Amino acid sequence: MGKIIDGKKISEQMKEELKDKVEKLKAQGKKVTLAVVQVGDDPASSVYVNNKKKTCAYIGIGSLSYELSKEAKEEELLSLIEELNGREDVNGILVQLPLPPHMDEQKVIGAISPKKDVDGFHPFNVGALSIGQKGFVSCTPAGIIELLKRSCIEIEGKECVVIGRSNIVGKPMALLLLRENGTVTIAHSKTKNLKEIAKRADILIVAVGKAKMITKEYVKEGAVVIDVGIHRNEQNKLCGDVDYEDVFPICSALTPVPGGVGPMTIAMLMNNCVESVL
Ligand code: GUN
Repeated sequence: MGKIIDGKKISEQMKEELKDKVEKLKAQGKKVTLAVVQVGDDPASSVYVNNKKKTCAYIGIGSLSYELSKEAKEEELLSLIEELNGREDVNGILVQLPLPPHMDEQKVIGAISPKKDVDGFHPFNVGALSIGQKGFVSCTPAGIIELLKRSCIEIEGKECVVIGRSNIVGKPMALLLLRENGTVTIAHSKTKNLKEIAKRADILIVAVGKAKMITKEYVKEGAVVIDVGIHRNEQNKLCGDVDYEDVFPICSALTPVPGGVGPMTIAMLMNNCVESVL
């Protein structure tokens, strides 16, 4: 039988620890402030942004909110970033993605000071991760490592298969597992024999973006399965990339959706904000 990895509970523990750290920083006269920038009014982005701001308030991190219209010019966003880069009272800058199609996402990410890039998306931080130097790490994969560690799941020497190669999840996930001495395979939409490769995994990280695609045919008996996907099923209920009911009986541990990886992403963002003042 599978064991549920309770990301909500683990993220709550982390938030309590961060609350303490923020309080100690305040006692030393150091405030933590995150600037959150949203361009346009995509409803999903608004939900994420509001969640981030609410969590900041809970932990004692100040948040500044900037809302640009979806017609705003790229230069307007770039000059806001430049202003925030220069402000001493702003420690972290987060530009919610996706941006409208007329904006160059990589150019915008590259404009954020790497020291304030709490998302860990700047090429400087991505490069630091790839050569094992310190820097901000993308929150979802960093949250997954934290989930595994706090659930006492060893990574060293394990066969780890990551399905998905995005810049935000798949690639940094693979690098982080490698840093923990896992044996790492990255699979993606062009991978042949995906079932066979996935079935080799002791730790299977799924970020394919297709609802309930991963059935028990992809999973080795006793594997740990981490589900990064989030979708709405036919009944409008949230579900992941993993067919939960099918996989649960054969795996040793599994993250639910909701309540698995999602809450950890926000907790790691908060962690990165606190790190930005240390
Ligand atoms: N859009 C979806 N996930 C993220 C994230 O982690 N950071 C930002 N900035 N935008 C996102």
